[in-house]
Amino acid sequence: KIFANTLFIGKQLISLPSCHSTNEFLAELAVKDTLFEGAVVITENQTKGKGQRGNSWYSEPGKNLTFSVYLRPKFLKPSQQFDLNRIVSLALYDLLKKMCPMAKVYIKWPNDLYVNKKKITGILIENNINQHSIIQSIVGIGLNVNQTDKLLETATSIKEISNVEYELNKVLSDVIMAIEHYYLMLRSNDARLIRQLYEEKLYKKDVVAYYEDKNGKFNGVIRGTEADGVLKIEDESGALRRYQFKEIHFLL
Ligand code: BTN
Repeated sequence: KIFANTLFIGKQLISLPSCHSTNEFLAELAVKDTLFEGAVVITENQTKGKGQRGNSWYSEPGKNLTFSVYLRPKFLKPSQQFDLNRIVSLALYDLLKKMCPMAKVYIKWPNDLYVNKKKITGILIENNINQHSIIQSIVGIGLNVNQTDKLLETATSIKEISNVEYELNKVLSDVIMAIEHYYLMLRSNDARLIRQLYEEKLYKKDVVAYYEDKNGKFNGVIRGTEADGVLKIEDESGALRRYQFKEIHFLL
């Protein structure tokens, strides 16, 4: 079981030996209204994990964390929902910095965590806005912890970086505490600070890189995000281009 020292995240914990997708499972429970805010669903063996852009998320059974957290931030307007992506990214950033102190850690917009230029965590946040404009959020996290075989060329894990094998429950407990820390910060009106911290950790911020949008490839410089999460890239003519998720590709 979990030892997280938290106020609400992880107090309701559903641990399944196997599950199609913890995001889907949590969404089904959310409809039935049987969940407390902070409920967590975790499985050792996710058989049909969902990724961003309609991709799938594969994780070797028993090696990594695949879990979802249910949040209901009544204090956030729908237009502020990207702050959830920010706090979850920051939580994982802190954790990875602690576990891999020698490595370079970045948040790749909107919410991928990269360590030494390889992806280590995928986050899939699925929000529903109810009739009272309250956000119901399912925060799905896949964190590569102890997997060292069968990793994609572009992916890595904590063990691959640090050579240390970690107890999954301990890592889960640390992630949950870090998420709650930033969530409480956001709740106590520190959105400005959250945004600033997020921007500081953005991959390719203020450096020239190569991108592709619907009009073609170009050199540009990420200048940060708008409050709602839109990514701003300055192109070679000095103009600012604005992108929603899926409208821009990083050509690494
Ligand atoms: C990505 O494409 O980078 C996001 C991957 C998100 C995977 C996690 S694993 C736990 C949760 N349940 C899912 O089906 N997906 C998310």
